[in-house]
This record gives sequence, C-alpha cells and structure tokens, in this order.
Amino acid sequence: MESIKLDYSKVLSFVGEKEISAQQEKAIKALKSLKNGTCKGSDFLGWLDLPVQITENELERISSCADRLREQTDVVVIIGIGGSYLGAKAVIEAMSGSFDVYSGTRVVFAGNNVSEDYLYELQAFLKDKKFGICVISKSGTTTEPAVAFRLLKDQLIEQEGVAVSRERIVAITDEKKGALRAMADKEGYETFVIPDNVGGRYSVLTPVGLLPVALAGLDIRSLVKGAVDMWSCMKESDAKLAVTYASVRNALYEKGYVIEITVNFNPKLHYVAEWWKQLYGESEGKESKGIFPASVDFTTDLHSMGQYIQEGRRNLFETVLSIEKTKYRVQVPCDAHDLDKLNYLAGKRVDEVNKMAELGTQLAHVEGGVPNMRVIIPELTEYYLGQLFYFYEMACAISGGILGVNAFDQPGVEAYKNNMFMLLGKPGYEKRS
Ligand code: PA5
Repeated sequence: MESIKLDYSKVLSFVGEKEISAQQEKAIKALKSLKNGTCKGSDFLGWLDLPVQITENELERISSCADRLREQTDVVVIIGIGGSYLGAKAVIEAMSGSFDVYSGTRVVFAGNNVSEDYLYELQAFLKDKKFGICVISKSGTTTEPAVAFRLLKDQLIEQEGVAVSRERIVAITDEKKGALRAMADKEGYETFVIPDNVGGRYSVLTPVGLLPVALAGLDIRSLVKGAVDMWSCMKESDAKLAVTYASVRNALYEKGYVIEITVNFNPKLHYVAEWWKQLYGESEGKESKGIFPASVDFTTDLHSMGQYIQEGRRNLFETVLSIEKTKYRVQVPCDAHDLDKLNYLAGKRVDEVNKMAELGTQLAHVEGGVPNMRVIIPELTEYYLGQLFYFYEMACAISGGILGVNAFDQPGVEAYKNNMFMLLGKPGYEKRS
C-alpha cells in the first residue's frame, strides 16, 4: 500500500530550509518527550500506540453490536459533540455516497448543538421509525448530548417501550465515572469504554469513532489498518512526515503566518477538515499562542473566500488535502453546437478540470503571497483516512510540543459552560458572575 505524502515545495519562497530545520530540532525534542512520557499532559498519551493495541476481539465486538443495531433499526442517532462525534462524522461523510438513498440503516447525528428547531425536526423525522441511539460522552456530563439523549430516550421509550429501548441504546463513556456510566449501568445498556488516557479529540480510533462508522456500514478494519501502517511508518522514520509538517507550519507561524487553512477540492472532505480544526484548535490554542485553524471547500469557496485568500491580509497559509485518484470516471461530453463554448473540454475527465483548478489555485495563491503545502492522499478510502488521522494526531502533538503548550487539555472550553450553567440556574453555579 502507498502512504500519504507531504509536498511543501511551495512554502520555500516564504520560509527557508534553515528556518524549517530550526523548528525540526524542536520537533524532534517534542517527539522524544512524547515517546518517553515527559511532555505536558502526559496522562493523555493513550492514543500514541492505540492503533496497534486494538485487538481483533474488540473489533469483533464493535462489528457485532453494529450488525445487531442495523438489523433492529432503520435509523441510528449518534449523540455526541466535539471529539465524541467529529471523527465518525468525517469518515461517514467521506465514505458515503453523496445521494445515498439509505436502503439500509441510516446514521444521523444529534447532541452537537442545542438548537430547538433541530431537535424538533429530528424528533419528527424519528416518529414512527424504528430507531436506535448510540450516545457518546467521555465525561458523561456534557450538556448538549445530555439534553438530546434525554429527549430521544423518552421518545424511544414512548414508541417502543422500556425493554426494547434498552436493547436499542448503546453508550460509549468512561469505564467508571460520569452520569452516562451511571445511567448505562442502571438501565443495562450495552457499553463501550473510552480509555482514561485518550482525550476526546484523539479518540477516533476507539469505539467513539469505530462504532458509528461500523453502524454506517463502513469498513472499520481498513480504517484501523491505515492507522497501524502510519504508526509503523512513524516508528521506522522517527515520525518524519509528522515532524516535517509540524516544523513547516511552525516556521511559517514564526514568520507571521498565523492562520492555517485546510483546503479540499472534494466536498466529501468537509468534515475531515472539521475534525482537523477541533484537533488543532483545542490542542494548540492556549496561553495566547497557536495557529488558528480554518478550512474551505474549493472550488465552491473560491467564489466567496477566494478573494480574501488571494488579496486580503497576508497572514494565511494553506494546506491542501489533495486526492490523487477518484473513485469514478465522468467525461465532459462533446456538443454539436458548442453554444456554451465548452468543447475545448470535450473528452476530458471532470477530475482533470478539478486538478487544473487545484494547480491553478495553488499557483495563484502562492503568487498572491499565501504559502501552500499539499497532503497527498492516494485515494479516498477508509484505509487512507486511518493513515491521515494518525498522521495528523502525531503532528499535532509534536506541534503543541514545539509551541510549549499542553496539547491534550482544553481548559478554555470551561468558560462558556460556567456562564451557561450560571445563567440557567444549575445548582452550585448561582454565585458565579
Ligand atoms: O477533545 C475533547 O476532549 C473535547 O472536545 C470533547 O470531545 C468534547 O467536549 C465532548 O466531551 P464529552 O465526550 O466528555 O462529552
């Protein structure tokens, strides 16, 4: 199997190899401290060897649970927020057909917002459907998923009765702590554990990501195999790919390029970028430091954000997720009248048009002062997504080490929660201002 690659040749007119090497030294130190467990946040390094620790028994249990729920239901609602849904959403969006008619079980998401209209519409959609729930929360106490779970659990009980609802609910949470664990134990739901030493945004290769992906009928073994192969590649090469990406982005950051835009030319990658934004935003954005992670879908956003990227403030750099081979072939047809003047494209594949858009954009943006890297992905498959996840996790941890922050906590997320609890009158939060 091939491996994903990194091409940073188009940043070299903005930062020199010397500047990159200086960051590389820091990256190698950061890598060492990850490996020997002396980095900041070392309680949360469970993701490091996770790919090779997943056993066939665990995969089998996840697959069986998914098969059972798929047989019992038409729809499964995945409830979770942040790291408890983005990895699964990324894989499912990337690997499902854009216009799937869902003859099998359909997977939908909830608990990643507190929109009343969203929940109303979801409840209306689930009315009279055979549905199941996969509720995911490491802490077991996060408000958004808890509210969605309370509503949907009640609906399920009303539609199917208590006994069936218990069979149709699966909880993924901490082994011992939290409200969700207590509920699951009391009701007898099937449960899967999120290991203590794996933070939410690094948890895609635990049941958090794997069960929803299996529920969507996708290949979890290939996903894991991709991660295992990237893990081996990192081991054999001193994490060269991750060290290089982390070093290049930090060399750019030191020169004032403080925003990284992850770009795709395939809308199926939209949620891969969302997953990446959470990983990098929550890991690096602290102590008044960190590259701001943003994303765009091209060519769509070339007709909106493209103007800013080409000519706006010069503090951005781009990393393009570039897929080499499409799954299908579509050619532009020839037209006898050529009134739309498109015959110059006749016989060419749509992917060639897309690839030239990608190259043309890269050249234009570099010319306009935007450094550009490419993460080259041979094909959009579960296998390469597994590689990509592990690569990005490793590079993120190294990059956090270069910045000198704890890449595994998220203290800033508490501020809004505390205010919200105070405003809503949660017991214990009354006196906060
Ligand atoms: O990365 C993280 O730890 C967070 O973003 C969490 O994933 C998110 O806040 C959801 O938390 P929980 O799974 O505890 O509900």
